Amino acid sequence: MKAIVQDRFGPPERLRLAGIDPPGIGPGEVLIRVHAAALNPYDWHMLRGDPYIARLMGGTGLTRPRSRVAGIDAAGRVEAAGAGVRGLRPGQDVLGFCPGAFAEYARTRADLVVPMPDGLSFEHAAALPMAATTALRGIRDVGQVQAGQQVLVNGAAGGVGSYAVQIAATLGATVTGVCGPRNQDLVRSLGAAHVVDCTAGDFTGTTTRYDVILDNVGNRPLRHLRRVLTPAGSLVLNAGGTPGHLIGAIGPMLRLAAVNPVVRQRLRVLPTRQDRAELAAVTALISEGKLRPVIDRTYPLADVSLALRRLEEGHTRGKIVVTVA
Ligand SMILES: NC(=O)c1ccc[n+]([C@@H]2O[C@H](COP(=O)([O-])OP(=O)(O)OC[C@H]3O[C@@H](n4cnc5c(N)ncnc54)[C@H](OP(=O)(O)O)[C@@H]3O)[C@@H](O)[C@H]2O)c1
Repeated sequence: MKAIVQDRFGPPERLRLAGIDPPGIGPGEVLIRVHAAALNPYDWHMLRGDPYIARLMGGTGLTRPRSRVAGIDAAGRVEAAGAGVRGLRPGQDVLGFCPGAFAEYARTRADLVVPMPDGLSFEHAAALPMAATTALRGIRDVGQVQAGQQVLVNGAAGGVGSYAVQIAATLGATVTGVCGPRNQDLVRSLGAAHVVDCTAGDFTGTTTRYDVILDNVGNRPLRHLRRVLTPAGSLVLNAGGTPGHLIGAIGPMLRLAAVNPVVRQRLRVLPTRQDRAELAAVTALISEGKLRPVIDRTYPLADVSLALRRLEEGHTRGKIVVTVA
């Protein structure tokens, strides 16, 4: 099968299209014929082994990428199901977390995929798993957003942000989205009542106070973010940093953990998780018409390195998707 392999740590240009054997499956696993996959900052973390400390902590692999085939988000058709798999059958269309998603076939645990909602294309379905579940966790679970609250989403036009704005608005919050000038209309169309142009002003320099802030960018110091939180407000930090760092976002995370116990505001780092119940919740929102993926651009499988370069530039509008077949 054709697959994008990552044999060594490095920049996106290290990725190469190769012919390799399709993966075998064991009990509790399914083999997916991948039709579309999506990119996440997770992919450059894994390819670059970045931040470098993640290599020592076992997150990315020590001397080379942990997974030989790149990618994690996929949508496709179940080709085969291993022993003990219930509720999934060959021929069914699914979406979910599939390590090695940038390939014609990927193997994954059966409990990491869910059936695709009716009427969704493979490209739109692939755009969901990591970004939409992260947004759901950040807004609903960790942020505990309630109807009537003021919610600010920093990085509102990106993969996570574009879902977070919609989920917070659906929960009845008044949403302020922070993004660049070309994405203002998009963020409004997703349900934001207010939009702040990050190139024209600093959202932490205003007198407005927010009950919940979901920070997907990490470009403001903690004390500035706390300044625009209500006295009992919640800050959810979801910024993974940019390529080329020793400790990346771990520094801000440690600072936040140190300050949290001595202040009234709730300061939380958004945990990373791959969870079937969260996948099911976002597909339910799609079926109810309360959530829609935004696709920035699609690339063919052979051009994953170009797609990842674009993602690393940090100005994706929604999700970047790879069409596989
Ligand atoms: N905890 C987890 O499990 C988890 C899961 C997924 C992602 N993450 C982390 O969440 C973060 C966001 O991920 P993502 O997938 O949403 O990334 P992304 O799609 O690459 O986000 C890009 C967006 O960031 C916006 N942006 C860049 N600079 C900005 C600024 N100064 N102010 C406001 N917006 C700005 C861009 O908007 P403009 O072009 O309009 O500036 C663009 O739309 C990453 O750090 C990632 O590592 C964590």
